[in-house]
Amino acid sequence: MINISKPFFSEEEYESALNVLKSGNLAQGEKVLEFEDNFRKFIGSKEAIAVSNGTSALHTSLLSHGIKKDDEVITTSFTFAATPNTILHTGATPVFVDINEDDFNIDPDKIEEKITKKTKAILPVHLFGCPCNIDKIEKIAKKHNLEIIEDCAQAIGTSFNNIISGSRFTGCFSFYPTKNITTIEGGMITTNNDMINEKCRMIRNHGSKERYKYEILGHNFRMDNLRASIGIVQLKKISIFNKKRKDNALYLEENLNINGIIKPEIKKGHTFNQYTIRITEDFKRTRDKTAEILKENGIMTGIYYPVPMHKTILYTKLGYSNQVLQVSEKISKEVLSLPIHPEINQENLDHIINTLENIK
Ligand SMILES: Cc1ncc(COP(=O)(O)O)c(C=O)c1O
Repeated sequence: MINISKPFFSEEEYESALNVLKSGNLAQGEKVLEFEDNFRKFIGSKEAIAVSNGTSALHTSLLSHGIKKDDEVITTSFTFAATPNTILHTGATPVFVDINEDDFNIDPDKIEEKITKKTKAILPVHLFGCPCNIDKIEKIAKKHNLEIIEDCAQAIGTSFNNIISGSRFTGCFSFYPTKNITTIEGGMITTNNDMINEKCRMIRNHGSKERYKYEILGHNFRMDNLRASIGIVQLKKISIFNKKRKDNALYLEENLNINGIIKPEIKKGHTFNQYTIRITEDFKRTRDKTAEILKENGIMTGIYYPVPMHKTILYTKLGYSNQVLQVSEKISKEVLSLPIHPEINQENLDHIINTLENIK
């Protein structure tokens, strides 16, 4: 079976993790500090704060920027639940802007029409590892005095015009096993702002800088030394992993040419956490049937995401159901992600291409 994602561990990760287990220093400590320092250098941000997962990275970042009840945060509906849900957790309201058809990211040209007096921040998502046009978003944010928090969960090493995602504004990363590097569960916040750094560090640790000295309301969103020790080794391999993903994407770009299938654009700074094609009405079978046929042929695929957030049960209950986000709604019916993780080889890719070509 060709899996849609597969974490790659070698002896080095096993050894690193075992050393932590044997040391007895398991909770947040030296290894977390080392991972933070390495990650900060990789992204090019002043600070990096390790947290328990990508969801807590978003939640902590929003709180550290002072997002609260009655505020509005502009984001996309075509994303993982964590993006808008963490906005809800702060008491603020997610305001959805439609996406571009070509890269599935928030359409910057549609942001301004959604800005109100309550808008406090823009939360763009670099979906599938494809960079948002952060220059355009920055211009809008500056004009309206808004914060920017980047959802880089799927975008470790992604860049737009050579600006690494998460290096300019607050960045939120995930190290879940499907991501380009993994710590199993895990996340990271990057920032250049000392005040945000300090607040994030407090929020992840029950609002305290010193033990039992609680200054603000926080959570337990800490990372531990065991996960950090795996992250340190994984981070050393990120360039190799990202190159392999890109090479696989380039191979599909060149060799997958079938009427009715739209391929993703190969943008320069794209890190291909997912290679997502669109199965349009012109293809011989529906998207779901195509996924079924691929599975019968030993190829696992992913549908990210079958329902845009504003159409989910939760958001329907919250009153979002009559919102129209035409592109998000259309795209969610067409997307199909194909395996391109670093262990996928040319033989696997040819099998994927041949299977799609042979569908009747
Ligand atoms: C776009 C996006 N944001 C946030 C998250 C949340 O990350 P985590 O699963 O580590 O909590 C994910 C994880 O899949 C994601 O894909």
